[in-house]
Amino acid sequence: MTAAPPRGRPTFSSGGSEQPPPSSRAAKIIQTLKESVRVPEPRFLAPEIYGSAAIRNIARALPPVERAYANIRFSILRPKLLSVMDLLLPDEGKILDIGCGFGLFAAYFGQTQPNRHITGIDPDARRIKMAERVADKLGLVNHSFLAKDARDMGLGGPFDAAYVLDVMHHIPADAQEPLLARLRELLTPHGTLLIKDITTEPHLGLKFTEWMDRLMVGWDEPLAYRHHRDWGAMLVRLGFKVRMVRVPDVLPYPHVVIAATKL
Ligand SMILES: C[S@@+](CC[C@H](N)C(=O)[O-])C[C@H]1O[C@@H](n2cnc3c(N)ncnc32)[C@H](O)[C@@H]1O
Repeated sequence: MTAAPPRGRPTFSSGGSEQPPPSSRAAKIIQTLKESVRVPEPRFLAPEIYGSAAIRNIARALPPVERAYANIRFSILRPKLLSVMDLLLPDEGKILDIGCGFGLFAAYFGQTQPNRHITGIDPDARRIKMAERVADKLGLVNHSFLAKDARDMGLGGPFDAAYVLDVMHHIPADAQEPLLARLRELLTPHGTLLIKDITTEPHLGLKFTEWMDRLMVGWDEPLAYRHHRDWGAMLVRLGFKVRMVRVPDVLPYPHVVIAATKL
């Protein structure tokens, strides 16, 4: 004999003779209720402000001299500026870091979005070794580094994005446009080319930057800064859509961030 359902509870009788037993019906009801109140997956993640933990991890992975350099670089490319660039890059896919140096920013952008596969290139083999070491220490298994001049062919690709942070003014003036044209070829359709460089106004800001650069590279290497309008015109000529923003700083560096999309 089947027990009568308790009063006030739904019976779910269909009138047929093949109803599931009450315990399985209760399980179904609970499942339906659970599904109707399921909390949706978060649509974005903002685990921390400005990637400060990522910066601390990078500094810890470096020996003392390089750590001091990293602290200077991260104080010049302030966390706010880095966060802007972080948001301009795709959150996954293949990304090229031109003139990666010690791989500080490959390590930064790789930590903030672990699905980025970053290839860093720099002609300085010692810096490349250090970049590999930092990536290893941080467990960034998708990163790779090549000791190469960016003007050389054979960088692989296609890439979803490429970034060039404070490197373009180290490339001789007549080689800058061919390099950007080459980078365009390496990008997927609608790929992003992100350039952070120094513009030439105000003049005192430029002079300040030049002195700082000379401290690093000496007097022999040519430094070829350009006005941000020149970079914009060059990129448009090459077949990019261009957006740019000048970013003021407490130090007098005349930063400019250029986001170019391959048309
Ligand atoms: C001011 S450092 C910037 C390094 C790194 N992007 C950063 O922001 O910390 C300039 C870097 O550009 C690299 N570089 C200079 N000429 C280059 C070239 N032709 N191809 C690739 N990298 C180059 C230098 O070796 C150096 O590591």
